[in-house]
Amino acid sequence: MKILVTGGTGYIGSHTVVELQSKGFEVIIVDNLSNSSAEIVDKIEKITGIRPVLEVFDLGDREKTADFFKRNSDIMGVIHFAAFKAVGESVEKPLMYYRNNLVSLMNILESMKETGVRNFVFSSSCTVYGQPDKLPVSEKAPIKTAESPYGNTKQISEEIIQDTIKTSDIHGIALRYFNPIGAHETALIGELPLGVPNNLVPFITQTAMGIRDQLKVFGDDYPTPDGTPIRDYIHVVDLAKAHVVAVNRMIQDKMKKAFEVFNLGTGKGYSVLEVIRAFEKSSGRKLNYKIVGRREGDIIQVWADPSFSNKELGWKAEKGLDEMVASAWKWEQAYRTENS
Ligand code: UFG
Repeated sequence: MKILVTGGTGYIGSHTVVELQSKGFEVIIVDNLSNSSAEIVDKIEKITGIRPVLEVFDLGDREKTADFFKRNSDIMGVIHFAAFKAVGESVEKPLMYYRNNLVSLMNILESMKETGVRNFVFSSSCTVYGQPDKLPVSEKAPIKTAESPYGNTKQISEEIIQDTIKTSDIHGIALRYFNPIGAHETALIGELPLGVPNNLVPFITQTAMGIRDQLKVFGDDYPTPDGTPIRDYIHVVDLAKAHVVAVNRMIQDKMKKAFEVFNLGTGKGYSVLEVIRAFEKSSGRKLNYKIVGRREGDIIQVWADPSFSNKELGWKAEKGLDEMVASAWKWEQAYRTENS
């Protein structure tokens, strides 16, 4: 029951490690700590009572990756989170994104082939759908030309996995995340972006905390009911639980095809202003924000059709928006108190 979680000290990775351990899996984390800290392992241990093994190296290093798999050929499956994920940065530094996200993937798949490790779960994104023609968007929707090198790495990665599967025993599940937010109920782990946050919810909580002066709302002239863009926000713990289900599906040979794709969303879309209102309500604080121009590359609206995931995985996102923003706020306060 040993699972490799790459990027396991990161935001979604750490929450997934907690869920895996609570279901009896033994976890080994590989992380280069480029966007996270080794102390997350202490927090995970505090939550679950079990300390996951952490090996610090870069999966872009082929020899180190091969050596890791040789030493751990008994792992039952790999959940691959480790990747760069900032859309704007990827436009500035495309080669850095392609190298980091694709080379590590290829190194892992090659090592899996060599050592007979079969089960692979991949962190994908609803960004592969671009602005869908039809909403809610199902897994059958066409893949649109990527808006950014980051998005392109997710599309190419899914193709690399599919091609590898055709010529090996490897099975793959790509989980296409919508917008993960929130934090663990203990407030011991959560989303801690380095520097200025790109994403909405960490920016909201940091503004409320006084770390940022003001939230900029990027555009209120979109063709949506209140003019701001709509996303399908999903609680990170709900998302983490889907990974445990995916791993079990593979181990228990329940897959219908060697490569499967699932949407991980709630099926409900909320506008930026609705998220702000939900935050204000749950925190009791007025948020300082200002409407500014649109952010380049933002799509108007997207929310998932999660019915295939709900049916096939027997999984459903359970937590609503209020709980999501409340947990993000609880985490932000706890983190800043501990580190003040
Ligand atoms: N937003 C603001 N102000 C901010 C930050 C965000 O108004 O300071 C708005 C954005 O314009 C957007 C919404 O909040 O309308 C959500 O933005 P996020 O940056 O939180 O999320 P995105 O939907 O842009 O991006 C996320 C992930 C990507 C992934 C993408 C797929 O961050 O990794 O979803 O759609 F590719």
